Amino acid sequence: SRSLRLAVIPGDGIGREVVAQGLKVLGAVLPSDVKLETEEYDLGARRWHATGEILPDAELESLRRHDAILLGAIGDPSVPSGVLERGLLLKLRFAFDHYVNLRPSKLFPHTATPLAGRPEIDFVVVREGTEGPYVGNGGSLRTGTTAEVATEVSVNTAYGVERVVRDAYERARSRPRKKLTLVHKNNVLVHAGHLWKSIFDRVGREYPEVTTDYLHVDAATIFFVTQPERFDVIVTDNLFGDILTDLAAAVTGGIGLAASGNINPSGEFPSMFEPVHGSAPDIAGTGKADPTATVLSVALLLRHLGHESEAARIETAVSEDLAERGDAFRTTDEIGDALALRVTVG
Ligand code: IPM
Ligand code: MN
Repeated sequence: SRSLRLAVIPGDGIGREVVAQGLKVLGAVLPSDVKLETEEYDLGARRWHATGEILPDAELESLRRHDAILLGAIGDPSVPSGVLERGLLLKLRFAFDHYVNLRPSKLFPHTATPLAGRPEIDFVVVREGTEGPYVGNGGSLRTGTTAEVATEVSVNTAYGVERVVRDAYERARSRPRKKLTLVHKNNVLVHAGHLWKSIFDRVGREYPEVTTDYLHVDAATIFFVTQPERFDVIVTDNLFGDILTDLAAAVTGGIGLAASGNINPSGEFPSMFEPVHGSAPDIAGTGKADPTATVLSVALLLRHLGHESEAARIETAVSEDLAERGDAFRTTDEIGDALALRVTVG
């Protein structure tokens, strides 16, 4: 019999509530011959307040021994900004070499969106996950004075750019429309922009069947709103990808539906799946959090581990449930129950 060793990091705020629903649906969809073993990790604001620890090496080592990680959300207003984001979430992405941050956007029918009734929107952003302005390469001089100078230097390596661009070409080739758009800002960020564009063009010669396009990031934001159907696969750097995927979520049904995978394609390290949204402390414990983004992240997790039919069943269940839900309010639990019921076979 097969097994799925899953590490679970509920984290902060609504993280715990949405992860509980994700696990509920996972339990319901898995075939009975797959043995699910979950191990929960107490990481986040509570742990930091209690012990001062963020992500001890022993836990990083233990997390590593799983097939995948499911994460709820990290961050709390009681912790200085950046401490948990950098020390936990980004540390995991860097340590496990999650260089493909996969963020699909699909316009489900019947969802509340400014773009309802538009042509089909179905694109995926391949956001670089280990480089760019996220590496912490910077500093501040004369801190706290009126003469303070701060730098945050974006790091882009040929190795890092080529591997994520190649992954994006592979994804584009396997999709019906076979189109890949590079998003950058090479009219201003000329050094990094040149590296990205030249690698994009060079690798592209190995994929003659893929149609390519280039957009500056500011122009891309316009098209996300006015013409999102023009996108199929998008590849971009860590920060542009962060911003674009929040916008993508907003125009395709809201942040409550946006799923993501932090993927280590080589399989050397476990990949990590999480909703794009944050910990939303303002609604934590109220039952208002929509667990759908986490449930869709579980679908990405299953697909990554080769359980394609189970992943597809979850996506169909979400689509049907959204249609039935319409504008009606449902609690976190009710949505989880409804989805678990729909994915249960027989
Ligand atoms: C995301 C989040 C994170 C990011 C933060 C919390 C560090 O916004 O997953 O998109 O910027 O990557
Ligand atoms: Mn973000």
